[in-house]
Amino acid sequence: MDEITRLEYLKIMGVERWSDRTMIEPNTATIKPNPMENKPIIDHWESLKEEVIGCQQCELCQTRTQTVFGEGNPNADWLFIAEAPGEQEDLQGKPFVGTAGLLLTEMLRAIGLTRETIFIANILKCRPPNNRNPKVDEIATCYDYLIRQQALIAPKIIVAVGRIAAQKLLKTNEPLSKLRGVVHHVDNIPLIVVYHPAYLLRKLSQKQAAWQDLQFALKTYQQLQTA
Ligand code: URA
Repeated sequence: MDEITRLEYLKIMGVERWSDRTMIEPNTATIKPNPMENKPIIDHWESLKEEVIGCQQCELCQTRTQTVFGEGNPNADWLFIAEAPGEQEDLQGKPFVGTAGLLLTEMLRAIGLTRETIFIANILKCRPPNNRNPKVDEIATCYDYLIRQQALIAPKIIVAVGRIAAQKLLKTNEPLSKLRGVVHHVDNIPLIVVYHPAYLLRKLSQKQAAWQDLQFALKTYQQLQTA
């Protein structure tokens, strides 16, 4: 992104602060219960990736260009979870590489994070045609991949990006306006809800609220460090 565009995004967010963090080595495996045999089985990052790449468990495999597993540091403290890949993500196989992605990158920088230090995943690993909302059965089918990603990453904090991710992760139909500004917990991990950058691009009037959400997420994380 050129400097002018970047400053434009920062202006949208109403912020000017950023810094870099370094990358660390990924986790390799996690143990999870095998519901069929009641014995633990070992899950691996690379085999999970391969499973997602070859997934044909729902009809989205027929329309996708490629799956979008997620990107970043598989050992990250921060796990950002959004909805589903869009057109650019489907073409490039990476999350948040379209216009909303540029804004997300700037939102991250604003609280001192980079895409390399966090992990970004979506609830769905395949693009719904024409970016329609994910169907209930698609979410149900794909969700196991996200649970396994979360178990392997073992994040300290989860950020639900946008309404669809927040509602699914928190198993609620509450509107996003009621979910933000509160520390929720999923599997004992603090979870903060923030506006989706695509929504912010449509509704610039919410930029102040979005900035507050990010500050709140950062404060929650910092409190974890000192607890
Ligand atoms: N919107 C999302 O929810 N996820 C992406 O990866 C890109 C856009």
